Amino acid sequence: MARCFVTRELPGDALDRLRAEHDAEVWDGEGPPPTEELRQRVTGCEGLLSLLTDDVDAELIAAAPELRAISNYAVGVDNVDLLAATRRGIPVGHTPEVLTDSTADLAVGLMLAVARRLPEGERAVHEGEWSTWSPSWMLGRDLHGATVGIVGGGRIGGAVARRLEGFRCEVLVAGREGPTTFAELLARSDFITLHVPLNPGTRRLISEPELRAMKPSAYLINTARGPIVDQDALARALREGWIAGAALDVTDPEPLPPGDPLLEAPNLLVVPHLGSATHRTREAMARSAVSNLLAGLGGERMPHCANPEIYDRSG
Ligand code: DGY
Repeated sequence: MARCFVTRELPGDALDRLRAEHDAEVWDGEGPPPTEELRQRVTGCEGLLSLLTDDVDAELIAAAPELRAISNYAVGVDNVDLLAATRRGIPVGHTPEVLTDSTADLAVGLMLAVARRLPEGERAVHEGEWSTWSPSWMLGRDLHGATVGIVGGGRIGGAVARRLEGFRCEVLVAGREGPTTFAELLARSDFITLHVPLNPGTRRLISEPELRAMKPSAYLINTARGPIVDQDALARALREGWIAGAALDVTDPEPLPPGDPLLEAPNLLVVPHLGSATHRTREAMARSAVSNLLAGLGGERMPHCANPEIYDRSG
């Protein structure tokens, strides 16, 4: 029986499987454990089940000499110092696949919502600003038949592309698996949707030059990670009309502080990191995260490991 720390209660009953085999302490605070608290709780633990809101940095890993399995309840692992974990030979689990479809659904939902001005329309109805149907009021842009640029042709990008077939879109994919150049994608797309992981190569991938290269009628959609977009540049792009609008499921930081210039920008839709937020998907993520942790603690290969190179080392 290994000591584990779980940084939040998870939906469904997956944690019961962990509790049945190991001594699992679950943080019961409202939000994430504060950094110092997290460090203290993990010291002496062999397993950690973390969330994307936890900073699993090199200091934390160093403060936990017995730690031998980390399982992140997310597909993204940018909150974990992978290098530090790998150096120690600690496998880091993550939860791809189970959240692909929910995240792709949301990306398409955001395209429709921002281009068809759904939040504005909803506000107008609630605030009594809608007096009559009018030919030129609240006009937006169509998703059907549009050219959509997908940055990152992995699992989620691919699932978005499949959905867009139903909208008869022309899909341009840039990224490792995509035939389109990034410059072409920026110049031609009516919607650009981001589906790359956050890493040093993708941080601020969308900055002033990229926003200026987009069509003034185009929309930017981000369901990946906030720091992939330079938010100051995005705020200017929206204020000055370099692009038509943006819909963000992710920001940097999360949440944006009140008064953040981005929140004041026009034609912006922001939702609170909901990509995987359905009952079925979050429960599936919990099962996947627990399976990873159990495998790691049992000395077996994790079903989904973000640093599989640790298994390829000899002896
Ligand atoms: C992830 O798993 O990385 C997602 O951002 C959670 O929705």
